[in-house]
Amino acid sequence: MTFTNGDTDNGATTKSVKIAPGSVKYHMQTLKTVLNSLAHMLIGLVCILTLFFAFYRGLPTSMTNIHIALTVIGYQFLMAQGILSLCPHNAWSAHLTLGHKKRIHWILQIMGSILAIAGSALYILNKPVHWNTLHGKYGLVALVFTIASLFNGVTSLYAFELRKVIPIPGKLSKLSHICFGIVAYAASSASLCYGYDKGFFKMYMDSDVNTYFLMGFTVVLTVVVILNPIITFVEKLFR
Ligand code: HEM
Repeated sequence: MTFTNGDTDNGATTKSVKIAPGSVKYHMQTLKTVLNSLAHMLIGLVCILTLFFAFYRGLPTSMTNIHIALTVIGYQFLMAQGILSLCPHNAWSAHLTLGHKKRIHWILQIMGSILAIAGSALYILNKPVHWNTLHGKYGLVALVFTIASLFNGVTSLYAFELRKVIPIPGKLSKLSHICFGIVAYAASSASLCYGYDKGFFKMYMDSDVNTYFLMGFTVVLTVVVILNPIITFVEKLFR
């Protein structure tokens, strides 16, 4: 059986390697592709269920529904896909060259960050008292790290050029970019789970049990999405 594996920075195709059926590598590859499919299914489930709440009376007009639509599309759809796009086993990007993967990654991250920042900022401007709920506190952490990751992403992208001007090791800006991205996405998921805990959302989900299942799916999704960046972070740290 042939799997595509490995990135080329300049070619239009990636190289294919043969993996012996039954070997550890073969089973690991299967596990990674299954986890990737699971991530895409859970992104669909979490986003569709939450967005249905925001859109079921047509285009969202209330502040809460606008907030939900922007943050969920920004964090849980665009930013999750942006993180997955760099994963070597991601279904829709595995065949792309490293250069194309990086390009699609920063496009998705910029679009996701803009929506997520706008969705949080709108509610912050709308509320008279701030950071009095765990939902809001985790949302703030996600917001701060998203902004940091956005700036840091640019320094990572131009790490080589920047090194000629400011003597910052390229590895440092890449490591901090991965770290900021992981914290931003994980905090947004924690905020989302506390958002699901709100009475009006539990009513929409029909029961507490359904809501807890949705929280559980969000946790599994988050772990699967941040798994590859965590591995990359550890590998880069000790390389
Ligand atoms: C990734 C998703 C989300 C993020 C990052 C997020 C972030 C935030 C932030 C930063 C605030 C302002 C907090 C403050 O000023 O004190 C807020 C408020 C609020 N959000 Fe979200 N939110 C998300 C999803 C949701 C969802 C799905 C719901 C409802 C089901 C929701 C409902 C609310 C409500 C009712 C408030 C005002 C009360 C409060 O602060 O807890 N949010 N959110």
